[in-house]
Amino acid sequence: MSNIKAIFSFLLLTQPALLILPTSALDENKLTEYSVVDQLRYDFLVLENELWNYVLDVADNGVKEESKPEMEVIRKFGDFGSKINKLSPRGYETALAPLENVWAFAVVKADLVSVEAMYATFRRFQDLQLAPGKVPSPRAAWRQMAEAILTEPHNRVDESLVRIEGIVANGVYRTVAQELDTLKCDTNQSAQQVLYNLYNSIALTELKGYTMIQFSYMLLKLYNEGNFTKEAQQQQERFESRSNAAIRAIKAAMEGLSRDLYRCDPRKHVKGKTYEEVTQLLQGYVQNEVDMNNEGTCRENCAEYKYTKSYGCYKNLYCRQQRNCAGKILNCKYYDSDMWICPASPLSGRRYEYIKYESGEVLGRETACFRGQTKVDSWWRWLFWHCSYCMCLCDEAGPNSDRFFNLRPVESNMTHNMVVTGLRFVKVNRVFHLQVQEGLLEPFGKIDETTLRWVPVDGYKITDRNVHNGQDYHQLSWEQRALDLDDLQGDQGQLVTGVKFKKIGSHLNFEIRLTPFDFKNGTLVDPVNKSIWKDNPNTDSSLKNPRLHGPIKPVHLTRLNLYQPDIPTRTTSPSVPDSSTDQYVEFVNSDFKKDAAQTTVPFIDIQPVQSLIAAPLSGAGIFHKGQPHFGGFVAPKLITYDFREHLKAIFPEEGDVEGVGSVEMN
Ligand SMILES: *[C@@H]1O[C@H](CO)[C@@H](O)[C@H](O)[C@H]1NC(C)=O
Ligand SMILES: *[C@@H]1O[C@H](CO)[C@@H](O)[C@H](O)[C@H]1NC(C)=O
Ligand SMILES: *[C@@H]1O[C@H](CO)[C@@H](O)[C@H](O)[C@H]1NC(C)=O
Ligand SMILES: *[C@@H]1O[C@H](CO)[C@@H](O)[C@H](O)[C@H]1NC(C)=O
Ligand SMILES: *[C@@H]1O[C@H](CO)[C@@H](O)[C@H](O)[C@H]1NC(C)=O
Repeated sequence: MSNIKAIFSFLLLTQPALLILPTSALDENKLTEYSVVDQLRYDFLVLENELWNYVLDVADNGVKEESKPEMEVIRKFGDFGSKINKLSPRGYETALAPLENVWAFAVVKADLVSVEAMYATFRRFQDLQLAPGKVPSPRAAWRQMAEAILTEPHNRVDESLVRIEGIVANGVYRTVAQELDTLKCDTNQSAQQVLYNLYNSIALTELKGYTMIQFSYMLLKLYNEGNFTKEAQQQQERFESRSNAAIRAIKAAMEGLSRDLYRCDPRKHVKGKTYEEVTQLLQGYVQNEVDMNNEGTCRENCAEYKYTKSYGCYKNLYCRQQRNCAGKILNCKYYDSDMWICPASPLSGRRYEYIKYESGEVLGRETACFRGQTKVDSWWRWLFWHCSYCMCLCDEAGPNSDRFFNLRPVESNMTHNMVVTGLRFVKVNRVFHLQVQEGLLEPFGKIDETTLRWVPVDGYKITDRNVHNGQDYHQLSWEQRALDLDDLQGDQGQLVTGVKFKKIGSHLNFEIRLTPFDFKNGTLVDPVNKSIWKDNPNTDSSLKNPRLHGPIKPVHLTRLNLYQPDIPTRTTSPSVPDSSTDQYVEFVNSDFKKDAAQTTVPFIDIQPVQSLIAAPLSGAGIFHKGQPHFGGFVAPKLITYDFREHLKAIFPEEGDVEGVGSVEMN
């Protein structure tokens, strides 16, 4: 049994006197792990005991009315109200908006609103009294306030609290948790965050209600309106058992609840705004066999040309009319001898809108051809060699092909206690970067929202001096175009303070930076020396230094197959996550039939990912979402901080009191 529980148990046994807590005996260190609401509950009990001692003392000694003994109580409650304000996160109303249609929430909401309204009045009244230069209200006004709190016929605070308690006991958290899977996409909150926000919102309102009740009893006692010690104590016992029951309920409901936070598809896909593309990594390309060998012959067939290049432009035929592929020419295939080619606008990044063969087969989508179709015919040389036009893939790095990923680390300003709170992909100077949002960490896992900012991207150009492939950025190619899809997470005492990509073999591999922190005081602990980079633990260490350990084996063994992928934005169905950690995806050309292989997929989702109420992260991931037969999107996800560990019963559980015989007092 913990010391604190022991103290409480002991005190409970000393009833019927009011719970009088020797604050000097508290071991503050034991409280380092409590959530903000539990901490506030605890702090209030300490205050409550202090004030009851004061009130009973004053009442016993019959202090005169003129000395205004109630001002001490009013002031202390005012301070505590400010503390609740300061520590509790803002924005619950928006955070809970997704629950509007959940019946269990609608039921509890009426009582929350009613208690909050009373509390707002209570606070306003306090402020009026405490403002400098203000004359305290007469006793009559305070008495009315206290009586309104205790006996107001339509919204008695204690009755609201009883109803809220009943709804919690009836499983409001469990019911809401069951609805969360269908809600999580568009809320900018992980499922656990929604539930935690709901819990905090209910628990804080309950606490406010409870403080008002105790305040009223104290005041009425000071005014000699009755004894009230018994009522106050009953309320306290209910408060304790209610708090403990709520913690049991929320912990159970949170079990296994997802902490993933990612963006759904936008209402409309807009290039440069919601997504970006790797361009012309592998692109469908028509070339005649005669130009694909250094002898200018047509002795083979298209399928023989698996890995070659362009050697010339025989007689300035079709090759003169299109942009030459100056890189690798890969995986050629013969469709038919003669065709019409509809060229695309060079600005579109495509070479062809579509290709229609004489056989009737069409690659791409046949539409009106604004730039005019070109007839392209293969020919015979000396009757037995067919100089065929082949359909190949072109892998040509150059000004038309954006195929770079930043390898430099991206971090929050750790030395100034900033942690990562959001992620997004951006393309700057043709290079893809993961950009981080940072915010100042505060006690109890809170983030100071006024400090949020997207850390400016290190926007170098690949042509800058001292910028190198493999060191500052990774250049994709036919051989090196895999992206590992991993969810990475730190331990409970760590937060994300950075992200980066590195190369393992031919794969781009994701890493996060983790820094230990102190939950209660809200500080990163020695970030310079204690931060670590973490990658997928399944990564074979031999791959990290292949020169030392034999040949390279791929770590991520399962490839996410994009089967006959069409352009991702063509589907009207929303994307769904379809990858799992330990997989990888390869950037690849779109399908020949559907798109003449003109587009590189998957696309990159560039929507920002951040929590609605800013929050620290335990982890982050890169994943793929899409629809079958479409290329889909690569996107970042956040793994929000796990608050479950901090939900602890601060009051002795009923069963615990029995063990009191062996209580240690320190
Ligand atoms: C989610 O966040 C994005 C940008 O951060 C914002 O545009 C959008 O309105 C948010 N959605 C909700 C439901 O808050
Ligand atoms: C008030 O009630 C408490 C507990 O019920 C009792 O011990 C105390 O004597 C009472 N005080 C007065 C003044 O009645
Ligand atoms: C961190 O923040 C401080 C204070 O705003 C600033 O002076 C410093 O340059 C920042 N460090 C980095 C690496 O951005
Ligand atoms: C916060 O806690 C850590 C260890 O838990 C300690 O090293 C640090 O000094 C504390 N900082 C403050 C401001 O109390
Ligand atoms: C971090 O390590 C350096 C070198 O080992 C040391 O000088 C410094 O004091 C350490 N910082 C802290 C905060 O312990």
